This record gives sequence, C-alpha cells and structure tokens, in this order.
Amino acid sequence: MGKNINEIKNEALKELESVADVNSIKELSIRYLGRKGIITQFLRNLSNLPKDERPAAGKEANHVKIFLDEQFKNAIKRLESKSIDSGLKIDVSLPGRPSVQGSMHPISEITRQICDIFTRLGFSVVEGPEVETDFYNFEALNIPKNHPARDMQDTFYISENIVLRTHTSPTQPRTMEKQDPPVRIIAPGKVYRCDSDVTHTPMFNQVEGLFVDKDVSFGDLKGILTMFIHQMFDSETSLRFRPSFFPFTEPSAEVDIRCVMCKGSGCRVCSQTGWLEILGAGMVHPAVFENIGYDTSVYTGFAFGMGVERIAMLKYEIDDTRKFFENDIRFLRQF
Ligand code: PHE
Repeated sequence: MGKNINEIKNEALKELESVADVNSIKELSIRYLGRKGIITQFLRNLSNLPKDERPAAGKEANHVKIFLDEQFKNAIKRLESKSIDSGLKIDVSLPGRPSVQGSMHPISEITRQICDIFTRLGFSVVEGPEVETDFYNFEALNIPKNHPARDMQDTFYISENIVLRTHTSPTQPRTMEKQDPPVRIIAPGKVYRCDSDVTHTPMFNQVEGLFVDKDVSFGDLKGILTMFIHQMFDSETSLRFRPSFFPFTEPSAEVDIRCVMCKGSGCRVCSQTGWLEILGAGMVHPAVFENIGYDTSVYTGFAFGMGVERIAMLKYEIDDTRKFFENDIRFLRQF
C-alpha cells in the first residue's frame, strides 16, 4: 500500500519547513489535503485493507489530516502577522477610503420643506394609513358609493371595502373624529391611483391641510396658501384661484401659481398658459362636519391637498415624474 501515514506526515512537515510564502503553503495544503491530495487519496485507499484493520487506520489518517490542516493554517497566520509586524503591508501615506454619504430623496426633501413651513404657521403633522377603508377614503368625505366623483379617483381595491387611499383627505375625518376644534393639521403621505404616464405615476405623494375653528373664512385659506407659496418659491410668485368641484369642499377651488420657469410669458412647462396648477382646496363641506359630529352652526374650516412631485418638479426643473421612482443613483445624487 505504499507509504504509511506517518511517513506522509513527516514528509509534509519537512516540505512545510522549506517554504516561506503564503502561496506556496496554500499549494502544499492542496497537494496534501485537496480533493485529489495525497492524504485524501490515502483515505480512499483504506478500503483495500483487511476489514478489521480499517477502523484504526482510518482514525489515524484522519488525525493526521486534521493535524496537517492546522499546521498549514498556523504557518499562514504566522507569516501574515510577521509581514504586518515588519510593516510590509501598511502604507501609512495611502489616502483613507471615504465612506459613501447618502442624500435625501428629492420627494422627502420637498415634503420636509412643506411641513417645515406649515409647522411654523402653527400646524401639526399627522399621518394616516395608506391602506384605507372605503368609508374614510370616500363616504366620510361625502363621496357615496356609485357617485360619479369616484371616477376621478379609481384605485386599487384590496377588497370591496378596503382600498389603497387615492388622496390624503381621509386624514381629515380621521383627525376630526379624535379631537374637537380647533384643528390645524397637515398630513403628508403616499397615495395611489390607476394612472401612469409622464406626469402621473400609480403611486405619488400629497400633503393634506385642514384648519377648523370658529369664523374661518375663504380669506384665511387664501392668506395661508399665499404665505406658503411665497416661502416655497419666492415672494414674487402670484396665485390664482379657479372655481372647481370636490364633494368634500364647498366652494372648491384649484390653485395655480405663475409659471416659475417663464414667469408667465408662456412656455412648454405651462403649456403656454403662464400658469401651473399645484393644489386643490376649498371650505370644508358641512356634510363632512355632520359625518363626524362637528356643530356646523359654530365651526367652519378649510382644507387643501397638494401634489409633492409637482412641486418638486417645479423647484428642481424636472420634466418627468417617473424619474423620482426609477432609483437611478446618478439622478438621485444631485439633490
Ligand atoms: N383630495 C383632493 C385630490 O386629491 C385635493 C383636495 C384636498 C381638494 C382638500 C380639496 C380639499 O384631488
């Protein structure tokens, strides 16, 4: 059967003594312990031995295998620590590796700016669930089942009465249910609609606002929104209110700002109109107050909802909403 296991061991140790670099030790290890190595081969050949000798010989050979493996590993370790000790591997003049610094997503950044402006005006920030009941998303907001206004906000149904919210407006009844007036909140978050093109993604972000107290008027709404726009863009930016319809506000308005690109002279971004629509707003409909039990003879309020992507596109001059969600790091890194 050729050499015995102890002879092999001694030969291996002798060879180990004569090598002085990590690669040669690794080669040696493979030559003895690898899949086709001398020891591996030896173990395989044990089956040629008489049956009663096999267990003892196998045990011994396995011990040698473990022993040699340790010797090889230790030798490598010794060499490596020696080279570190003697300074061979460290070049203290090498520049450090800078850690990669992330940046805020543009949508998060704009949401934060919007919230900052409104908190300075005395609003507090609340949040609502993205998976919403039909009741809060529609019915409590005066949009009964089968009402044509539901058409504008087709969405993803989880089940017959559970939807992905189509707007942040359900935070209005949710908040009013929990507290008495005065109410002064904004509610940022994701919303969902069956929509997808250059200016629409199936998921987008809104910030809702709600202000309820005694004697709140449309003038207050105009004042707050004007103050907001002046802080968000600049104090020269003018606003215009166009009559509109939302089932949960009356009267309702859509609010445009003077095009921030062309300052009103007409360009591609504003489709030559000089104006850009940025939010929907209005006085809270009495039916909404009645639904949650506020006294409509004492309280009035206003609400508004704005699209965060729209504002971010205008602030950063971006022409395609989808860019926000493609996660191209070259795009995102710019903010
Ligand atoms: N929720 C409306 C929308 O998403 C916007 C809105 C909010 C309008 C509050 C009026 C009052 O289109």
